[in-house]
Amino acid sequence: MSILKYREREYSCHSGETILDAMLRQKVDLSYGCKQGICQACMLRSNITPPDYTQNNLTTDQRSKNCFLACQWQPEEDVCIDPVESQSFVNARVICKSLLSQDVLRLTLEFQEPFEFHAGQFVNLKKSEQVIRSYSIASTPNHSNTVEFHIQLFNNGQFSQWAFNELVLGDVLPVSEPKGNCVYSIKGTDKNLLLIGTGTGLAPLFGIVIDALEHGHSGHIHLFHGSYNSDGLYLNAQLTELSEKYGNFSYTGCVTREKSDVFFRGRANDKAFLQYPDLKGWRTYLCGNPEMVKVSQKQAFLNGALCSDIFSDAFVLNQ
Ligand SMILES: Cc1cc2nc3c(=O)[nH]c(=O)nc-3n(C[C@H](O)[C@H](O)[C@H](O)COP(=O)(O)OP(=O)(O)OC[C@H]3O[C@@H](n4cnc5c(N)ncnc54)[C@H](O)[C@@H]3O)c2cc1C
Ligand code: FES
Repeated sequence: MSILKYREREYSCHSGETILDAMLRQKVDLSYGCKQGICQACMLRSNITPPDYTQNNLTTDQRSKNCFLACQWQPEEDVCIDPVESQSFVNARVICKSLLSQDVLRLTLEFQEPFEFHAGQFVNLKKSEQVIRSYSIASTPNHSNTVEFHIQLFNNGQFSQWAFNELVLGDVLPVSEPKGNCVYSIKGTDKNLLLIGTGTGLAPLFGIVIDALEHGHSGHIHLFHGSYNSDGLYLNAQLTELSEKYGNFSYTGCVTREKSDVFFRGRANDKAFLQYPDLKGWRTYLCGNPEMVKVSQKQAFLNGALCSDIFSDAFVLNQ
């Protein structure tokens, strides 16, 4: 067992227990989200250098300040921990809510100042200290002060049920700084792009596609969107229109549980990798269902993509 020192008090941390779980067990009110090392909502600082695996995706500056993800660190020694002052949320106002499908909400937030981000990044939205969830930005960074999200409704989902049923226009929502490196890069506008998303995994991919087209991307761009049924292909009309407008953009909708004359019957990732057996020189973007993302990372590599050209965001659910 090790001892955690926090705000001049001592807490126990059992062997194999994470710092976050130990503190929550002893009723310390720490914020957290995914508990899987992705959202960074649980970031703290320590008096000693944290192990590398607890600093995944933190910036060089955060690493040098001994910041770490409390949901990842299972310490074997005593540690003094402190809150991270710079872990900032800024308030944004709800200016639009509309349904993209029966269970996907389009939520638009407005900031007082322009909100800087890269297409494809995600933020944490805070309902309360205990309910912080990650959502990908579906809009492009045109230096405006609005951002758009696609939120899937979950049965008993604490955030999504609240966003669908209680959040109203004019409400104020705390939003974290943008995070993640599944982003469009203006270096290599001639590279071919393969994008595969399931469900609301379309949100970041839509932002990336629009950003690429707005930057005059000259390589081929092919987006595969998968869902159980055609209602889940919630941007079909818009994406079809884009594919008619831009010669280098293709869109394929895929459904797994419905017979269709319009859409491919089967999984989006199976269809995509069959169609593109040679991904040498391609950039691949994978977002949505964690199982799909895991299988597709491997397949993209086997089809010839470099690891450094495979970008992904697995939409893991909170544990
Ligand atoms: C990087 C990243 C980006 C993301 N981007 C998006 C996005 O753009 N759009 C989007 O819709 N989602 C996105 N997500 C997922 C999102 O963060 C939430 O996990 C999701 O919206 C569910 O949150 P919730 O509060 O509604 O549901 P939760 O309350 O977290 O519950 C999720 C599901 O688990 C079930 N559940 C909860 N507790 C238990 C339990 N104890 N036992 C069994 N089942 C339980 C619930 O019934 C529900 O069905 C992203 C996730 C990550 C990590
Ligand atoms: S990274 Fe720790 S709770 Fe999400």
